[in-house]
Amino acid sequence: MSEWQAIEVLSIAIDGPSGSGKGTVAKMLAEEVGLPVLDTGLLYRLTGSVAMQRDVSLADETEVSVLVEKLLGEIEWTVDGIFLAGENVTAGLRSEQVGAAASKVASMPSVREKLLGLQHNLAEKGCIMDGRDIGTVVLPDAPAKFFLTASIRERARRRWAQLKDDSDNSLETVLEELKMRDQRDAERQHAPLKQAMDAIVIDSTTLRVDEVVDRMLGVLERRKLIVRST
Ligand code: DC
Repeated sequence: MSEWQAIEVLSIAIDGPSGSGKGTVAKMLAEEVGLPVLDTGLLYRLTGSVAMQRDVSLADETEVSVLVEKLLGEIEWTVDGIFLAGENVTAGLRSEQVGAAASKVASMPSVREKLLGLQHNLAEKGCIMDGRDIGTVVLPDAPAKFFLTASIRERARRRWAQLKDDSDNSLETVLEELKMRDQRDAERQHAPLKQAMDAIVIDSTTLRVDEVVDRMLGVLERRKLIVRST
């Protein structure tokens, strides 16, 4: 049982670039406060992956948008991951190739627009949501927003350590790909990666996951959004 209890219907936004530790932190925080965690990157990853499988051009926004419309009727997005035709396909979405495709479809305004309703529906009952535009676009009224960062070298090292069993990419290659992804995510016109004005920035370069989570718990407690379970 978690040590903390969240107030009724609490939504927490966690944004940040690739490798900032959002996913791991979100999971640990979710365990502490007993909220479901939703990884919004999976929606873009699934779209990019299925586009590649079904020969939909990643350069054609209209085609990708039609695909998303179809996918909305086929997918189930839950705390356990993303299901397509009843099968949990999450594990297959973690590769760098899918990440690059996801970053392309994520730059398309009509694709983002179509995925927004799904995110709102799930957030309604309270959750921790991680992504790039949660604090700015998806949940602008969230009572707690965190923006996680880390140096580009440290983020590349983390990604590389995660991928190294499944890929031959060197640390330098992962670093270069990450730089390109950062640039695409930050420079896109629609919902770029940027911190919300009221987000609390945590630089995780030299922090352990539990130290980051402790800082977050401190903020949530001071704001009276969580209380210790008795
Ligand atoms: O967090 P991730 O690596 O799984 O995200 C995959 C891609 O999707 C990444 O290029 C950023 C994009 N993304 C986004 O634009 N907005 C979100 N809320 C989540 C992810």
